[in-house]
Amino acid sequence: MSVSRGGFSSRFGFIMAAAGSAVGLGNIWGFPTQTASNGGAAFVLVYLVLAFCLAYPAFMAELLIGRYGQANAVTSMQKMSRNLWQKRFAFIIGFSGIICAALILSFYGILAGWMMSYAVEPVTTMLGFNDLSSWLTAQSITRNLFFTALFMMLTISIIRRGVEQGIEKWSKRLMPMLIGLLILLIIYVFTLDGSREGFIAYLNPDISRVFEPDLLINALGSAFFSLSLGTSVMVIYGSYISKKENLVTLGAQVTLIDVSIAFLAGLLIIPSMYVAQAQGVAIFGDDGSLISGPNLVFDILPTLFDGMGGIGLFVGFGFFVLMSIAALTSSISMLEGPVSFVVERHNIERKKATTFIGFGIFIISSLIILNFDVLFGFVISLSTVYGQPLIAMFCCVFVGWIWQRSDILAEIKQGNDKVEYGLFWKIWPWYTKFVCPSAIAIVFFHSL
Ligand code: PHE
Repeated sequence: MSVSRGGFSSRFGFIMAAAGSAVGLGNIWGFPTQTASNGGAAFVLVYLVLAFCLAYPAFMAELLIGRYGQANAVTSMQKMSRNLWQKRFAFIIGFSGIICAALILSFYGILAGWMMSYAVEPVTTMLGFNDLSSWLTAQSITRNLFFTALFMMLTISIIRRGVEQGIEKWSKRLMPMLIGLLILLIIYVFTLDGSREGFIAYLNPDISRVFEPDLLINALGSAFFSLSLGTSVMVIYGSYISKKENLVTLGAQVTLIDVSIAFLAGLLIIPSMYVAQAQGVAIFGDDGSLISGPNLVFDILPTLFDGMGGIGLFVGFGFFVLMSIAALTSSISMLEGPVSFVVERHNIERKKATTFIGFGIFIISSLIILNFDVLFGFVISLSTVYGQPLIAMFCCVFVGWIWQRSDILAEIKQGNDKVEYGLFWKIWPWYTKFVCPSAIAIVFFHSL
């Protein structure tokens, strides 16, 4: 770990930071929403299999690139290259990942701003500021600009402090809070009428749907988004891990936390919907499927909290604080990708680089807010439907086809000297070389 660029000071610090990046709105909002619209537990099952069989190997590839390179995504990938063409290819992939992270942050900041405004609303309602409460929960350009700016300022203030004092310290504080809040909310929802029915609906798979192409595509997309793949984020987090650590287990632990929290979020959201139904709220759309997307989070759940009386204010507050924390630990990782690149390649001081890039991304968010109908969906598809899978695929190609097998082994052996005799080394290189790139390509072209 070089002193000048910083690094995670402990294994726990890395796990919290990487799990913090992975666990975000994708887990707590996206996953339950996808589950609701893709046949319940059939989706959960497919998601679990794909997360471990495809997303985990790709995640390991990105972590390894970073730990080997000990630098930002572009420099790390270039260190693995052996000729000019490979160096150019490395630049394109690494830089595209950095741009992809910035684009994701530009729309993610808007969503996070919504979560924050909904978290403030119970407080203003309790204080009797009714006009303010209505402003907080109604879509408007001013509200969106204000809360996106606020959220970006929080993200910038953490990244300005660097890896140990910023990312690691805040992830270590926020992640346990997030897990605690999630568990408390689940316990509370389970005491309410209707939750049992939701629980059964969540965990009762309709096996006939498991091989539906749309379900497979959605599950793979969710798993990739959730593990922050194809965005340079895991490369840079990998570069901050000490060479003494066992990457194979660290990667598996982070994947396990990520998947478990998505699963727990489903245990909160789906039963909550059925509780809302027991209170007379319509939770099925015209086509008979469970309502998902923004309506679920911003209509059904708030109606449910309102129906709970006084305690609903606390539950609503807890829920949207949970969402905001999840978003923040992810957004800091998205900002770190471009910041580390500018700091290391252009020798710009971290604080300056962070403010400058953060502000630039906020400008993109503002453009999206001002042209919402045209740009919002476009930026999401560009970065998550096209960008992430393609970049993640090329990272696997890089590791599988360009990086020398002996060099990979030498890197993984640091912190895990028996790795070559274990199951991981028997399966993973082959997986990264053939299975991951082809599976990603098949799913990608199918989704087009
Ligand atoms: N993994 C985060 C989530 O689930 C989103 C994310 C994507 C974070 C890309 C970093 C990079 O919400």
